[in-house]
Amino acid sequence: MPIISVNNLHKKFGSLEVLKGISFDVNIGETVVFAGPSGSGKSTLLRCLNGLEKIESGRIFVDGTEVQDPQTDMIDLRRRIGMVFQSFNLFPHLTILENITIPLTKVRHMDLEPSKELAKSLLAKVGIEEKVDVYPGRLSGGQQQRAAIARALAMEPKVMLFDEPTSALDPELTGGVIDILKDLSRSNMTMLVVTHEMNFARHAADRMIFMDEGHIVEENHPEELIKNPKHERTKRFMTQIAYD
Ligand SMILES: Nc1ncnc2c1ncn2[C@@H]1O[C@H](COP(=O)(O)OP(=O)(O)OP(=O)(O)O)[C@@H](O)[C@H]1O
Ligand SMILES: [Mg+2]
Repeated sequence: MPIISVNNLHKKFGSLEVLKGISFDVNIGETVVFAGPSGSGKSTLLRCLNGLEKIESGRIFVDGTEVQDPQTDMIDLRRRIGMVFQSFNLFPHLTILENITIPLTKVRHMDLEPSKELAKSLLAKVGIEEKVDVYPGRLSGGQQQRAAIARALAMEPKVMLFDEPTSALDPELTGGVIDILKDLSRSNMTMLVVTHEMNFARHAADRMIFMDEGHIVEENHPEELIKNPKHERTKRFMTQIAYD
């Protein structure tokens, strides 16, 4: 039984149809990379998965819960889905430690001391344990993104969604964040990652899905999709992005 199941998803913004019948399943522990040109609907798709968007039709199940069912407890659902954006989204007025402990105490109803211990261990895991008392504005982009990943992991989600987690980072900071994603993937976290980091796709993803204009054009093992795309549109895209 897949942990994520998307069936014939249609999404419009006004008259603009952004997702035109998207279907795919993801099994527990899989890492799936989504790639595609700007505007193809990748971010919208991730946002539909954790119920941030109203959809026109289709069905989405995550961890056995139908996302768009009016009966669904959205707070409980979003606890099970960790989301990391391009632009970190840390609370600027809270220290790095508080960014993690406040959701833990408020959403997971944890006591303060254990929440601090968990937060510190997660910050150590992402390599910024010395930044606990610092405000986000004093961290580099790469460090902020590590903190955002630690915060998402603190909720012990069943699934992690990453929307271009390294695209706002300098190349030398990208590697560190990609290494964290690789570790997470190896630890069998179920992950959907929108990224054009082909190195990550090839070495960490089980599957790669190429989207264009609201459709899934092609999906395959990453190496195969990158090196040997079948569709013209995929070929054109792959020759445009650099990979090693
Ligand atoms: N809130 C919104 N209101 C209206 N249109 C939107 C909204 N969000 C996205 N769109 C439109 O939906 C389409 C898909 O956008 P989306 O952000 O999902 O693309 P994307 O594949 O993530 O692109 P990128 O690679 O640039 O991040 C675009 O045409 C975009 O302009
Ligand atoms: Mg996007």
